[in-house]
Amino acid sequence: MSLPRLAAAVATACCLAVLPLATAGPAGASGGPGVPDRPLRQLAADDRLRIGTAVDTSALADDADYRRLTGGQFSTVTPENVMKWEVTEPRQGEYDYAAADRLVDFAHRHGQKVRGHVLVWHNQLPSWLTSGNFTADQLREILHRHITDTVRHFKGRVWQWDVVNEAFNDDGTLRDSIWLRELGPGYIADAFRWAHEADPRALLFYNDYNTEWTGPKSDAVYDLVRRLRAEGVPVDGVGFQGHLGIQYGLPTGMAANFARFDRLGLATAVTEADVRMEMPADAEKLATQAEGYRLLLDACLRTRHCVSFTVWGFTDKYSWVPSTFPGEGAANLYDEDYRPKPAYRALQAELTGRARPASAG
Ligand code: G3I
Repeated sequence: MSLPRLAAAVATACCLAVLPLATAGPAGASGGPGVPDRPLRQLAADDRLRIGTAVDTSALADDADYRRLTGGQFSTVTPENVMKWEVTEPRQGEYDYAAADRLVDFAHRHGQKVRGHVLVWHNQLPSWLTSGNFTADQLREILHRHITDTVRHFKGRVWQWDVVNEAFNDDGTLRDSIWLRELGPGYIADAFRWAHEADPRALLFYNDYNTEWTGPKSDAVYDLVRRLRAEGVPVDGVGFQGHLGIQYGLPTGMAANFARFDRLGLATAVTEADVRMEMPADAEKLATQAEGYRLLLDACLRTRHCVSFTVWGFTDKYSWVPSTFPGEGAANLYDEDYRPKPAYRALQAELTGRARPASAG
């Protein structure tokens, strides 16, 4: 990203209009002495940061408490599922953006920006695509059209796009996906070029998990984006998903890792934070969880161009964790009855009174 573009990204993170909202967390203890019980989005605005959540659009339609907190606590939203390819083009050539459009409209009404998720992934692809017998040339054209049509549809309404998601294995090799197999590694650069052509103002991110700390996977992402930028490919940022589990120990060195991406002139973002645990939860586990969230946010706040911090859902009432990791759960900021957990208070406290490094802009 050019410096003016990066400065603009930071500026939009910074100076968001904060709606007057009577939607601070439900009644309960605040984050501690001197920590005001203000909505996260207001506290984050003081720190020139957008704070976001992934949104389950069924819950948004059906659950008034969920709706109130989504609008009141967060200044960006990410569709948890409804911008994924299996939803937006269930049959080849038949597009369905209705659910995503409703979320984008909700965001607009609540002064929120939208993280678009996701353009190129190996998962949640439509079956016509995965079971079709397409040649490599046909697949390349299908991917090109998917990116172009999707980004054009939301042009001007999506702030950041996760253009390529989870392209690496944990050992730093490229993941064996339909895209790598059929198109070769050049699909990554092509995807960024095509997305940029469709909406030159959107910020284009590479997004992955287990990259928050230094290691083979994070090194591979670093090498990728450094090379892409040297080749003039329009990659603007790197998203660190932030899916942690307290049973693995909390990661160290995240701020130093984020910083090396920052030095490449890239925006960074925490894009899918949650901190799961083996059930049942107890006070000690919840305290460790709070520290996990705090560490992720701290790494972002220490990074000059970390423009947004997004949690992957905010209530244990709706979470991808229990079905994916049986026996684990309680990964979110609020419990199933929308009571704020220590993790919520830890974010409030961390956002209060932080002096962030001055932005390059
Ligand atoms: O929509 C279908 C529905 O038609 C069907 O009847 C039902 C029956 O199982 O499944 C529904 O699809 C589910 C979908 O979520 C929408 O609810 C899938 O089974 C389920 O696997 C899918 O899970 C999503 C998961 O991505 C898929 O990989 C999670 O909600 C979503 O939170 C999760 O998000 C990912 C990010 O996109 C990328 N990073 C990791 C993150 C967590 O896995």
